[in-house]
Amino acid sequence: MASLLAKTLCFILLLAVSSASDPEFVYDDVFNDPERDALYYDTFPEGFIWSSATSAYQIEGAWNEDGKGPSIWDTWTHEGGNVHNDETGDVACDSYHKYKEDVAMMKNLGLKYYRFSIAWSRVLPNGTIDNINELGIQYYNNLIDELIANGIQPMVTLYHWDLPQALHDSYGGWMSEDIVEDFANYASLCFERFGDRVKFWLTFNEPWIISLLGYESGVFAPGVQESGTTPYIVTHNLIKSHARAWHIYDEEYRSTQEGEVGITLNSDWNEPHNRSNPDHVAASDQAMQFNLGWFAHPIYKNGDYPEIMKTRIANISAQQGYPKSRLPEFTEEEKAYIAKTGDFFGLNHYSSNYVVNADSVDYSTPPSWGKDANIPTWKEEEWPSSGSDWLKPVPWGIRQILIWIDKEYDGIESYVTENGVSTKDVFELNDESRIKFYKSYINEVLKAVKIDGANCRGYAAWSLMDNFEWGAGYSERFGMHYVDFTDDDRPRQPKNSALFYSSLVKDNGYVVGSSCVAVISTSLLLLTLFSSLFRSLC
Ligand SMILES: *[C@@H]1O[C@H](CO)[C@@H](O)[C@H](O)[C@H]1NC(C)=O
Ligand SMILES: *[C@@H]1O[C@H](CO)[C@@H](O)[C@H](O)[C@H]1NC(C)=O
Ligand SMILES: *[C@@H]1O[C@H](CO)[C@@H](O)[C@H](O)[C@H]1NC(C)=O
Repeated sequence: MASLLAKTLCFILLLAVSSASDPEFVYDDVFNDPERDALYYDTFPEGFIWSSATSAYQIEGAWNEDGKGPSIWDTWTHEGGNVHNDETGDVACDSYHKYKEDVAMMKNLGLKYYRFSIAWSRVLPNGTIDNINELGIQYYNNLIDELIANGIQPMVTLYHWDLPQALHDSYGGWMSEDIVEDFANYASLCFERFGDRVKFWLTFNEPWIISLLGYESGVFAPGVQESGTTPYIVTHNLIKSHARAWHIYDEEYRSTQEGEVGITLNSDWNEPHNRSNPDHVAASDQAMQFNLGWFAHPIYKNGDYPEIMKTRIANISAQQGYPKSRLPEFTEEEKAYIAKTGDFFGLNHYSSNYVVNADSVDYSTPPSWGKDANIPTWKEEEWPSSGSDWLKPVPWGIRQILIWIDKEYDGIESYVTENGVSTKDVFELNDESRIKFYKSYINEVLKAVKIDGANCRGYAAWSLMDNFEWGAGYSERFGMHYVDFTDDDRPRQPKNSALFYSSLVKDNGYVVGSSCVAVISTSLLLLTLFSSLFRSLC
């Protein structure tokens, strides 16, 4: 009897102890590889920058107020047929009038940084420097001053997709090299007027999307469909514009303003399906070069496109009968001017894919970036879903992409400038799926920093609040605050993810130290002691 009792006790205690040493998983039904997915308890280095992000067209509204000129997104949404339910950013979150509320929300979250964008056509209504809209300048001065008064540092994107319509009409916008001069003047004006208070500048947000969705598939403004040719020209002009803005800052503003200029690139991580298969590993690298390297190789390395892009596109162009490569070339002088024009690397990251090598090349016309890249990728069915088709959470991917960037670009200072997850358009304040997403993804950023030594210095959650999600209109919500778009006043309400994020920010990471956790770990310690006692008894 006594021995039976002892044995039962032993069993219960051993069960308790073994479960205590079980690793903790955020997505325990999908991502539960103990080596890879176990939650890692540690804090970020001191001074790690916690932020949240938005962009002008997605939140400001006031599309034609106080002298603002139209952008290509105003035209695109007003045209009809391009966006879910023909929704527009005419009012959006009405942040043009409610920016003080936005800043108060950030302050409640305990954030010390905010990433937002300037609408080019709000400060220069037709894009050119001969026509400055002082009321537009005033709006950004007010916002920046309000941030600083609340202890929040601005991180500013100069271009988040909203090209002044006048520049598209007069010479085709990004399709023409004329844009370089106009972008340079705009950037210089922003450095001059705001640079006394803004120390982090991003020239472009996701140029990959600008080129491929704006000029290849044409599903985003300005809706050009010139697959396989124009997107390469657009990227060429975007890179030249970026380099020009960086040099202007470097020569005219850096010594007095002491800030930094970078660019924000987007990419999924492309995981080799079999890491022991060198063909899969090469395919993964090829995919990363066609996505990130297209922009980052010129800017952070040698002023030129990745070798793999140059050889593949030249070869495929020749087979398709083009007299020369569809990928434009930089002159030696341009290469020298473009190389090393990024003070830091901004990464927008949301999801991952598996990748394998392709077994043949598709030389058929029309040409496309996709055929040039020629990488079979997919997302596993069982990976979690979100409110957006293209977004399946794969937390371990962000660790891998940060490692890849760190290695490829020689330990460049990097920032996650966007990361987050959508839910469908339902009223929901208890957003568990978003808490899981942040908890797991930020933990993988922590592993990249603390275990792998990646030089990542900050993280911006996308997004501060629900907003206009481009082609999806208001049907997908990414916010840590719920916005009621049916109410003229656009009231905001914190979701549970806002509380989660603010406590993570406050702890600067994952701390075993809350009173609840302390009690649990003390009892587990006692259990361990008793169990060894009982083990010897049994
Ligand atoms: C913009 O406006 C200014 C002043 O009215 C004018 O000189 C300039 O040509 C305009 N530029 C474009 C691209 O429309
Ligand atoms: C992975 O690739 C290696 C090398 O090609 C091969 O030996 C191995 O069988 C592959 N593993 C799987 C699961 O296919
Ligand atoms: C182009 O690609 C084909 C097929 O992969 C290959 O046989 C050929 O050698 C390549 N030509 C050049 C010039 O790279």
